Amino acid sequence: MSMQDRAAERAAAVEKAMGDIARIDADGRERGGIDRAGVERIRERLLRLAARDDLFGDDDFPPPESAGSSISYRIAQNDDDELALYVQCVADGTSAPPHEHNTWAVIVGMRGQELNRLYGPCGGGGEPQVQHEVMVERGTGVAMLADDVHSIHIEGAATNFHCYGLALERLTGRRFWHARSGEWRVYVDDSVIVEARPDRTP
Ligand SMILES: [Fe+2]
Repeated sequence: MSMQDRAAERAAAVEKAMGDIARIDADGRERGGIDRAGVERIRERLLRLAARDDLFGDDDFPPPESAGSSISYRIAQNDDDELALYVQCVADGTSAPPHEHNTWAVIVGMRGQELNRLYGPCGGGGEPQVQHEVMVERGTGVAMLADDVHSIHIEGAATNFHCYGLALERLTGRRFWHARSGEWRVYVDDSVIVEARPDRTP
């Protein structure tokens, strides 16, 4: 398949998936906010998109070269900056401490392995306690509500979908657990965001 044909097929597949996800999100909002069953439906929908990993290869989404860094290719975002989908490519040795998102978040795997530790909601403060672990890789994913906390641990490179109920640049003021000081602090995501929406790139 030519790069152009692949781009067209990718755009159509992403648009279809994001249409379905927008409906699930709107359903949830109508009932006062998306619930766990809702984010699970989003996870399942994204797993179907991730099965087309031939449309999201390294040629189209080059991974970062330096260890410990990550690139988030923004492939969809609605006009209100409320629904956003990224292809996140992370280099070997990348990790993120326990943090919340202030919106729902779904991660599904395509290449490599991203170990997710899930802590559940930690609104009361104090040290987060691991509830369970999920290895995010091809065919698996995690779905979190706004106050769920997770941490990420990557050995070897990985490429995943990250989908949020608010665009990354709007996720300000969220907290992470700073283990050394034993307190929650404001989280600053240092992932580089690259614009990759088909209607915004030449
Ligand atoms: Fe996260």
